[in-house]
Amino acid sequence: MELAAVEGFVESLGDTVLDWSYKGFGSLPAPVTVAEVRHRGQGPQALGLHELGTPMMTVDLSAVADNLLQMSSWCGEHGVQLAPHGKTTMAPLLWLGQLMSGCVGITVANASQLRAARAFGVDHLQLASELVQPADVAWVAAELERHEDFEFICWVDSVEAVERMQTALVGQPGRARVPVCVEVGAAAGRTGARGLDAVLAVAAAVNAADRLALAGVSGYEGAVPGSGPDAAGLAAVDAFLRAMADAHLALTDLYETARVTVTAGGSSFFDRVAAVLGPLAAPEAARPVDVVLRSGAYVVHDDVHYRDRTPSSRGDGPPLRAAIHVWAGVLSRPEPDLVILDAGRRDLPFDLDLPVVLSASRSGSPRVDVPVGRATVVRLNDQHAFVRVGGDCELAVGDVVRLGLSHPCTAFDKWRAIALLDSADVLEPRVEDVVLTFF
Ligand SMILES: Cc1ncc(COP(=O)(O)O)c(C=O)c1O
Repeated sequence: MELAAVEGFVESLGDTVLDWSYKGFGSLPAPVTVAEVRHRGQGPQALGLHELGTPMMTVDLSAVADNLLQMSSWCGEHGVQLAPHGKTTMAPLLWLGQLMSGCVGITVANASQLRAARAFGVDHLQLASELVQPADVAWVAAELERHEDFEFICWVDSVEAVERMQTALVGQPGRARVPVCVEVGAAAGRTGARGLDAVLAVAAAVNAADRLALAGVSGYEGAVPGSGPDAAGLAAVDAFLRAMADAHLALTDLYETARVTVTAGGSSFFDRVAAVLGPLAAPEAARPVDVVLRSGAYVVHDDVHYRDRTPSSRGDGPPLRAAIHVWAGVLSRPEPDLVILDAGRRDLPFDLDLPVVLSASRSGSPRVDVPVGRATVVRLNDQHAFVRVGGDCELAVGDVVRLGLSHPCTAFDKWRAIALLDSADVLEPRVEDVVLTFF
């Protein structure tokens, strides 16, 4: 049901006309629809990446397919489930791949993403956040009432949040109790109840609210101060996850739903989540416990931040491949050691690290590789990248550079249409489909 609905939504996006209003696609001789690109992508007439303009963001389908498979087998082997964070991509085509690879639902960050997810056709949704505005709570209640397949869970971290939800729900049609997890927080961290006493107070408030049902505990180790891939950072992550486990044990007799959810885990420390919280999973218990990861970035991975932080870099995680790139044209080499590209802050993520130069090519028949030698992106303006190069760099005006990115979450939101390539590792990538995003 859910898969068919999301598939139907993706199919309906085929009518989208890719014209000048989608960066890079205006370079085609005439506008094409997504369905035409997809159809051509299945045969010898596929659009070539280099028929599109620069800058252009791409997703490598073969890498995504590998990541989906690797992550789903890893979760299976470790007894954890995955409801990937959809905010990473906000791309129904990629969510469909995630659901098809066995994910149990999709996670979203706020009420707008929740509405988008419902429009995409997703039935199993976790809002990894508090829901405190009455209009949003009322909308969820109405949606639950209208669609019996819709399964929803969200977080509460204060008595106020519980009372606001309860107040907004009283008087709403339907008898449904909305399942909520108590969010566990860390001192100086983000949201989340601080300490076991606070967790118990929130849980008691949920028990007292007849339109809410206590359904589990939640937390996000990625927002814990001091978390990181070194020994001290991992110790901070583990301590937080142990506090979540303690909270779960303390709430055992207070749960009010048939199944209990224990949820944590982005893409940096999901191995620690499986190690510390995994043992709480009890699929066969009278009140089954599901341990649910919410990793989002894993689906496309990256060439900088996640490359260095993913569990596989520590030797205990699925091998992931970077699937996202931005292709930028050389506008100028105004000084021998400086190359200026036509992609900037509007096109590239820069909140964690600057992009990295991976390779370059030059048009011609056939297209040829251009040795880039030592080449480092040192600065970004709105529309330009500054690349410091060595004497061994052969880049010239008009060449196209493939940039590796850092942080998928802040790459996707800069692009409404992204070319889906058969592979980004070949000289003439074929465009197989188009990934549309909805931020
Ligand atoms: C609450 C929460 N859960 C899960 C994630 C997913 O983590 P990642 O982006 O590392 O996959 C995030 C990311 O910010 C988050 O804020």
